[in-house]
Amino acid sequence: MSTRTVTSVACANIAFIKYWGNRDESLRLPANGSISMNLDGLFTRTSVTFSASTQTDKLFLNKTSIHGPGLDRVSAMLDLVRGMAGTNQRAEVISENNFPSGAGIASSASAFAALALASSKAAGLDLSERDLSRLARRGSGSASRSIPAGFVEWQAGTDDEDSFAVSIAPPAHWQLADCIAIVSSVHKKTGSTEGHAIAKTSPLQNARVADAPRRLDLCRRAILDRDFDALAAIVELDSDMMHAVMMTSSPALHYWQPASLAVMKAVQQWREEGSPVCYTVDAGANIHVICLEKEAEQIALRLRKIAGVKDVLTARPGGSAKVIEQKQIVE
Ligand code: PMV
Repeated sequence: MSTRTVTSVACANIAFIKYWGNRDESLRLPANGSISMNLDGLFTRTSVTFSASTQTDKLFLNKTSIHGPGLDRVSAMLDLVRGMAGTNQRAEVISENNFPSGAGIASSASAFAALALASSKAAGLDLSERDLSRLARRGSGSASRSIPAGFVEWQAGTDDEDSFAVSIAPPAHWQLADCIAIVSSVHKKTGSTEGHAIAKTSPLQNARVADAPRRLDLCRRAILDRDFDALAAIVELDSDMMHAVMMTSSPALHYWQPASLAVMKAVQQWREEGSPVCYTVDAGANIHVICLEKEAEQIALRLRKIAGVKDVLTARPGGSAKVIEQKQIVE
């Protein structure tokens, strides 16, 4: 009998308009739409092989065998794929991030986008970009945005069918860069799955969600017009609004470290002095500093001089998730 191994790659992404909170936790239908930029060069590579001789799903992440909740989350996505493909074969999943796992960069977006693509192909499915994005969403909401290329919008939608991400501009549309100031490599105590679940306990979440269509319009327009000042204003506001919700939820989530605030202050100062630069922060302490690509080297140098900044990773707008290898195996 023959089976095949499919290997895919998908980039991480940074949200300009954040996803925080779900309307439906199990389907991962978001409280609001979001917009992000894929991060070229920061990716997950995943190989999937379904096989009649494998008794249980197996997961190797960065060469380590994973059991427990990490494997369960992968198996839940494989179950969706098995359901669509009409198979009950178990799979072996080998996944590696090319970015340091201690760097505190969220890997769930690239991981579940790469898994959705490799597992569906390995099961013999040929899903459209829309259906891949819907499938990736079930693993991690932000993974829906790592399927299409470049600058991407995840439409909140009304149900499982219409909640997926689309590209609003290709990577070459705007030569931006994300200089990620690493201030902490510690694993966050509260991950985004638990964070989404308590978002509604903040009295500020309803206001944040109600205002989201306006912020999405401003951000989409700033990207399409390549208007950095407009982008900076809405990206920083949106990040601060999400952190205001985090800080006022029960229990309260404080992700910033003193060095995070030092970077945010420096970025605002540089912008006042005329540099096109702005910050945005995910569910962690590291600061994503968005700037023009031609100034990225200079910005990275300046970031490294701030006390508490341990390293800076730089990424440009990235492409879509891709299959990079398909191998037929005879069992
Ligand atoms: O996809 P998740 O469940 O890891 O949530 C991502 C949440 C943020 O990174 C904080 C915001 C976003 O839109 O990426």
